[in-house]
Amino acid sequence: MSSEPVVDVRDPAVLDDPMRGYDRVLAEAPVCWARLPDGGEGWLVTGSAEVRAVLSDPAVRNDPTGLPGQGAQTQEEAFLALGTPPEHLPYLRASLLSLDGAEHTRLRRSISHAFGASRVATLRPRVQEIVDELLDGLGSETVNLLDEYAYPLAMAVVCELVGVPEADWADWWRWGKVLVEGDPARITPTLGEMFAYCHALVDRRRAEPAGDLLSEVVAQDDLTDVDAVALVVFLVLAGHETMAHMLSNAALALMRDPAQRELLRAEPELWPAAVRELVRTDGPVQLARLRYAAADLEVGGVKISAGDPVQVVLGAANRDPAQFAHPHAADVRWQAEHGGREGSVGFGWGPHFCLGVALAKVEAEVALRSLVDRFPAVRPVTEPAWVPLPRGRHRVALEVRLR
Ligand code: HEM
Repeated sequence: MSSEPVVDVRDPAVLDDPMRGYDRVLAEAPVCWARLPDGGEGWLVTGSAEVRAVLSDPAVRNDPTGLPGQGAQTQEEAFLALGTPPEHLPYLRASLLSLDGAEHTRLRRSISHAFGASRVATLRPRVQEIVDELLDGLGSETVNLLDEYAYPLAMAVVCELVGVPEADWADWWRWGKVLVEGDPARITPTLGEMFAYCHALVDRRRAEPAGDLLSEVVAQDDLTDVDAVALVVFLVLAGHETMAHMLSNAALALMRDPAQRELLRAEPELWPAAVRELVRTDGPVQLARLRYAAADLEVGGVKISAGDPVQVVLGAANRDPAQFAHPHAADVRWQAEHGGREGSVGFGWGPHFCLGVALAKVEAEVALRSLVDRFPAVRPVTEPAWVPLPRGRHRVALEVRLR
């Protein structure tokens, strides 16, 4: 398929106010031909029902290898065209979001035990301890909550779980920022550093198991070193970048909504619903990973040909008026009444649904609740700017006054 793209996801009109920008696209066509973040063209899917249909369709794949049309370019060729050195390809190919079907299930199962709700519940006291230490350390009246609270918390929790020593967290922070900023000239050396670091860590855990997730991973005979490295890289990045920006977006939303804060103060049992609702209305992941049609499909009445790229917009689907009665307003009580079954896709949908969802919910609940309980007058100092990224809803900083 090709015609003129209806929308360019890099258009400043979309990036400056993505929700209103996507409102327009959604109202016109929940499935339309668009210019995508990498400059190529493909289908953009913004409707809630359509996004869920795409993400759960077995005929939609993350790996385009072997597909006709644009998908004929393999993942490897796409990475090489971006200047990726061939020695990095095995790790990128082994990443959970690059795999489909049985290969994906095998790798996901190898770590899923660590992310179940009951195991994650045992981490709650430690999360509370880290949160309390960080809040104790917020000495001055004005702080950047993103860098002084959200990032350090998200980094500490995922690194302790996986088994990354504290001395190395600053490197991960730097690497994560380079990858999100997306400058190809800096990404390649950064990936090289990360892969070399992770190989050394895998070797150390093989020699000396330490009771962390990585020690369990390297003890599994059917996992290779490449699998282990790819898992560490993906988990630490997914576990801190998305989490930090979720916390920052959600903290800001709460600061701006005294009625919802009052409701949570009066009925603290609503916190889990609040977290779900804040991810729905202002989640950090705007675009899911690019997918490809593996067969001819029809989505929302539009014909999509085998091989066509398909980009779903989670942020738009989460505010689709066809699905949500108050699409743009966070309504904690409404969310509580729906018990998480209202069809929001902030954590994805289908086989790649966020593996860290239980952990993310515990972290968010403990972090946000402790913040507003400890500092009831916390408020933004300035209007925080967006990072102009098509893929994520990230603030540059979140400067607040605590008292
Ligand atoms: C509020 C914070 C978070 C949000 C909003 C979020 C969102 C998402 C989304 C939207 C996806 C699906 C992407 C796609 O299908 O293209 C995803 C996948 C994933 N997330 Fe999260 N995530 C969060 C926190 C975490 C944390 C804390 C971890 C782990 C420590 C984690 C681990 C993963 C993994 C491993 C996948 C890939 C699953 C797979 O491919 O099978 N996430 N996440």
